[in-house]
Amino acid sequence: MKKISIIAAAIAILMVSQVSDAQDRRRPDAPLPKWEGLADTPQMGWSSWNKFQTEINEKLIKETADQMVELGLVDAGYVYLNLDDGWHGERDEQGFVHEDLEKFPSGMKALADYLHSKGIKLGIYSDAGTNTCACYTGSLGHEYQDAYMYAQWGVDYLKYDWCYTNNIDPKGAYTLMRNALRKAGRPIFFSMCEWGSNKPWEWGNEVANSWRTTGDISAHFTRDGKYPSYSLCILDILDMQAGLRKYAGPGHWNDPDMLEVGNGMSVAEDRAHFTLWAMLCAPLLMGNDLVHMSQETRAILLNKEVIALNQDPLGVQALKYKTEQDGALEFWFKPLEGGDWAVCIFNRSEQDREYLIDWRNFCFTDTEVSNLSTSFDTVVYRIKNLWTGKEEGTTALPKNYNKMKTVKVPSHDVVLYRLSPVSE
Ligand code: GLA
Repeated sequence: MKKISIIAAAIAILMVSQVSDAQDRRRPDAPLPKWEGLADTPQMGWSSWNKFQTEINEKLIKETADQMVELGLVDAGYVYLNLDDGWHGERDEQGFVHEDLEKFPSGMKALADYLHSKGIKLGIYSDAGTNTCACYTGSLGHEYQDAYMYAQWGVDYLKYDWCYTNNIDPKGAYTLMRNALRKAGRPIFFSMCEWGSNKPWEWGNEVANSWRTTGDISAHFTRDGKYPSYSLCILDILDMQAGLRKYAGPGHWNDPDMLEVGNGMSVAEDRAHFTLWAMLCAPLLMGNDLVHMSQETRAILLNKEVIALNQDPLGVQALKYKTEQDGALEFWFKPLEGGDWAVCIFNRSEQDREYLIDWRNFCFTDTEVSNLSTSFDTVVYRIKNLWTGKEEGTTALPKNYNKMKTVKVPSHDVVLYRLSPVSE
């Protein structure tokens, strides 16, 4: 009897799955959910674009992978190695895409195997239009074929760009690729790169794991006029994040573009850029030459306590609580798991600044996202400076007003604290 009911149940399951398969076949664009669990915290890794543009090849990628392991970057959480534009070869007669075998003589599958053997995941790049931005073949009309090839190769991440997409509906185009990835059967992180042109934060949650919020970043902190007109400086990108924090959270992140740390800004600017991106729950995708990088760059990228702010399980993007000194100093707060807060004092001006901290001026509730409160009037927090690594006392009001803490924040730099409630 028991045996018969098990067989009956098995037949029923088989029939249901055949029916839904048949339905899928009738409607290949039937909505399929994105892969869940791939983006509980913002993605971390390295991408080839900011430093190398289309000058990529197997040797560079393998050397980069080796460095990621040797320097402890993989252990620190940088697990994706993403090929950006420039890996494509030709499509074959059936329309399947192939890698450029001159650049990648062992092929994409072998590269994926190599990376996987080192605990690294392979990312790849394509475009919703006829061509990529560097004019290689785009995925328009080949979405299911391309997703199938990526899955066959062992790809783990797709950045999907928005060049050559005249008259294409963005939500439709990105949903189509999401469905194709889902159908291909391999969990692949889906990163939309639509530059914020069609407010992807309003509809991206269902479609992808992250969405670019702006045009392209450049290794320039301010608008000093020396960078290409199509790209943006760090300060402009930062300001363009206003109002977007409520859209981000586990599974779906705002993406203010890849890191420019180590690509020519000053150490202070690199530190500020990295800190602010960590506070914003931005993807931490390194964009520099890992084989030739300075000690200072390495120390920034490998600061595990700063990375921990970005990867905090609460996944709440920081808020700019207030500005002081005519907008020169910005105070950013990020609620963390366990009642902790990250506090960043950012000096965006050209002069070094000093600020006398009275924590009572920072009592507030994050009504927009987390509903958590800073409680400096009732709770005492221990202060740790995450860039010097030093404990700096507590937030308790000193008995003598003259002993209140004055913080020095150099131009284009940050002071970054982690505050933890002092246990009774
Ligand atoms: C666009 C994207 C960049 C990069 C290039 C590649 O500009 O926004 O991040 O991927 O294309 O061509």
